[in-house]
Amino acid sequence: MNTKIIKIDPVHIDQEEIEAAGKILINGGLVAFPTETVYGLGGDARNAEASKKIYEAKGRPSDNPLIVHISSVDRMTEIVKEVPPQAYLLAEKFWPGPMTLILHKNDRIPYETTGGMDTVAIRLPSDPIARALIDASSGFIAAPSANTSGRPSPTRAEHVIEDLNGRIDEIIDGGAVGIGLESTIIDLTEEVPTILRPGYVTLEMLQEVLDEVRVDPGLIAADSKRKPKAPGMKYRHYAPKAELLLVEGDNTKVVDEINRLCELAVREGKSVGILATEETKGCYPKGEVLCIGSRKDEDSIGRHLFGILREFDRMQVDVIYSESFSDARFGQAIMNRLLKAAGHHVLEV
Ligand code: TXA
Ligand code: MG
Repeated sequence: MNTKIIKIDPVHIDQEEIEAAGKILINGGLVAFPTETVYGLGGDARNAEASKKIYEAKGRPSDNPLIVHISSVDRMTEIVKEVPPQAYLLAEKFWPGPMTLILHKNDRIPYETTGGMDTVAIRLPSDPIARALIDASSGFIAAPSANTSGRPSPTRAEHVIEDLNGRIDEIIDGGAVGIGLESTIIDLTEEVPTILRPGYVTLEMLQEVLDEVRVDPGLIAADSKRKPKAPGMKYRHYAPKAELLLVEGDNTKVVDEINRLCELAVREGKSVGILATEETKGCYPKGEVLCIGSRKDEDSIGRHLFGILREFDRMQVDVIYSESFSDARFGQAIMNRLLKAAGHHVLEV
């Protein structure tokens, strides 16, 4: 399949191109597009065949449900059984934005879209290209992250091209995304609203709106026997090709330990990638050092994480040693992705 690649400026949206992309979706085709979190691979959420194509293009297990993207809050009522009051409270505060709600679905959303589940994930993104595309389509775009299953989520169109060129109808290049990690998922079908995936909307922010919120116990302990409730969180994910080891502890000790490990690996003839920060990037004499951002600017770390993991793939390093980060607030999402990328392979110093 020949994939059409088009550039759209988010500030001056080319409405003709958007209408054409909307037609592709209405006709059952697939279009990758930017959102504020990561790039999504869109298909018509109400078209079972389109959803099947999404799974096929990504190589994604078909029991892993897709997120349905809408562009106005009231359209949520068309695809769910009922909207609990918390959904409106959260929507008011965090939509449009990086938050996904899980609600009980109705018959308008096929099981192919929800991986056989009776619930549906819904998000109203803030990205102007995403919203224009939703409006130009049926109004319901099913979109997982636009990466090959298992690879780091795409934060630029180049990443989507790397993974999906030739497998889908169109890729809209709207530049680099702002947030860089996927949306926070909150399950409102449980007695107590439950975070299934941490993201830019943090636990603390949710606690300001809801009386009670908990974090899915399946997410917390690395060695927990509990399975995460979001099917996608159980798969090895975000993973670079090289083995990744996370080194945790006091900053100077971490640098010393990474240098020691690097020395040993280099002696064994391995090429080593080091995931460093603005503050430490000058402290590693050996290895391929990539700087993720400043510790003083957590947002920059989230924004660059997936791109850096892909960069290490491109450099074909054999092993990656990474510094680790605080898991407070947005750090919870950063550490969740890093730990998954590392397969929970952590060294405490
Ligand atoms: O930021 C995002 O959410 C991006 C952009 C494109 O919107 N999308 C995204 O989709 O990250 P995806 O498919 O890569 O991740 C969706 C996650 C998976 O872990 C999936 O298992 C979970 O949401 N999920 C979807 N529907 C669910 C449901 N009904 N119940 C529980 N988990 C669900
Ligand atoms: Mg994904």
